[in-house]
Amino acid sequence: MSTLETQGLGKVYGDFVALAPTDLKVEKGEFLTLLGPSGSGKTTLLSLIAGLADADGGRIMLNGRDVTHAAPYQRDIGMMFQNYALFPHMTIAENIAFPLKMRGKPQADIDRLVTEALEMVRLPHIADRYPKELSGGQQQRVALARCTIYRPSVILMDEPLGALDKKLRDQMQFEILRIHAEIGGTIIYVTHDQEEAMTMSDRICLMNGGRIAQLGSPDDLYFRPESLFVADFLGEANLLEGSLIAGDGDSGTVRLKDGAEIRVSLPRPLAQGSAVKVMLRPQNLRLDPGAGADQSITARLANLAVTGASTKLFFDAPAAGDAALIATRPTAISAGVLERGQDYRLCFDSRDAVAISAEGAA
Ligand SMILES: Nc1ncnc2c1ncn2[C@@H]1O[C@H](COP(=O)(O)OP(=O)(O)OP(=O)(O)O)[C@@H](O)[C@H]1O
Ligand SMILES: [Mg+2]
Repeated sequence: MSTLETQGLGKVYGDFVALAPTDLKVEKGEFLTLLGPSGSGKTTLLSLIAGLADADGGRIMLNGRDVTHAAPYQRDIGMMFQNYALFPHMTIAENIAFPLKMRGKPQADIDRLVTEALEMVRLPHIADRYPKELSGGQQQRVALARCTIYRPSVILMDEPLGALDKKLRDQMQFEILRIHAEIGGTIIYVTHDQEEAMTMSDRICLMNGGRIAQLGSPDDLYFRPESLFVADFLGEANLLEGSLIAGDGDSGTVRLKDGAEIRVSLPRPLAQGSAVKVMLRPQNLRLDPGAGADQSITARLANLAVTGASTKLFFDAPAAGDAALIATRPTAISAGVLERGQDYRLCFDSRDAVAISAEGAA
C-alpha cells in the first residue's frame, strides 16, 4: 500500500490551472522529489498535500485514510519550508518541542525526545540558545529536528536548502539523507535544482505547466526521457533530428539528416515515419569503439574546452546538421592527443541513443 496517494488532485486560480488533475502514488519510506521549472506547480501540489490550500477536485489518501478535507494538524504530515522560520521568541529546545506540546505529550517524554533530536542533527549544545544566535545552516537543522520529532508518516520539504550557500547545501543534503535513513519516513522534497534531485531521490516527479511530465528513478529520467522537455531539463543533451524508419517494441532505426541510419532505443512506442529527435548524452559519446559501442557517426572536432576533471569536445557532424555535437571525456586522457579539424568516429551504444517524438514537448 502506498503511504500517500493523490487521485485527480487539482487546483485552479480563477481560470488558471496551477495543478491539472494529478495522480501520484508515494511508497512507504520513499524519497520522492518534485522537480521542475519555476511555476510548474511543485509548491501547489505540496500545499494541497499539507492542507495549506484547498483542492478544487480529487482526493488525498494518507495510509488508506481520506484526508482531503482534514485540517493540516490532523494529517500526520510534517513540513519544512525554505522560509519556515523558527519561532524567534522561543529557545531551540522550545522550538523543537513545539509539535509535541501541541500533541499533548508528557513533559518527561518531551525532554528526552528533544535531547535525542538535537543529537540527531548534531547540535547537542544549543538547546538554550535563541534562533538568532544560530547560523542559517544550524537553523535549518533545527527546523529539520522540529519537523521530524513526532515521526509523521510523511515529511514535506519545499526547497529547504534554497537559502544556503553551495557548500552548506551539500552538507545538508547529506544530513537529510542520513536522517531519512535513520527515521525511515516518507519524504516528498521540492527543488528546482536538478543535481540536488538526482543526488537525493529514489524517484523524481518532473513537473511542467501544472502536470507531471515524467515520474521515475533519476536514471530513468536522465537516460530514458519520454519527451523533449525531460531530455532538455535534465542536463546537457545532444538532439539529432531524424525520422523513425523502423520500430519494434523498445528499439528501432532512425534515418538522420545526412542519410545515415542508426539503431536507437524507444522509451515510448512511436509510429513508423514519425519525426524524432535522437538524444545522446555527452558522456555517452566516445572516441574509441570498445565494448558496447555498436553505433557510430562521423564528426569533425571543432573545438575543445577543459572544464576541470573533464574536457568538453565540440564536433561538427553532417548527421547533426547545424548543431554542434558535444562529447565529454576525462581531461587526463584528452590532453594533447586530439586535433582540431580532424575527423573522428563518435561511437555510442544504441541503448544510449534515445528516440523521442519531435512533435510538441509533451
Ligand atoms: N495564490 C495564488 N493565486 C494565483 N496564482 C497562484 C497562486 N499560487 C500559485 N499560483 C500560480 O500557480 C502556478 C504554480 O505555482 P507554484 O507555486 O506551485 O510553482 P512552483 O513550481 O512551486 O514554482 P517555484 O519553483 O518558483 O517555487 C504559478 O504560475 C503561480 O503563479
Ligand atoms: Mg515553489
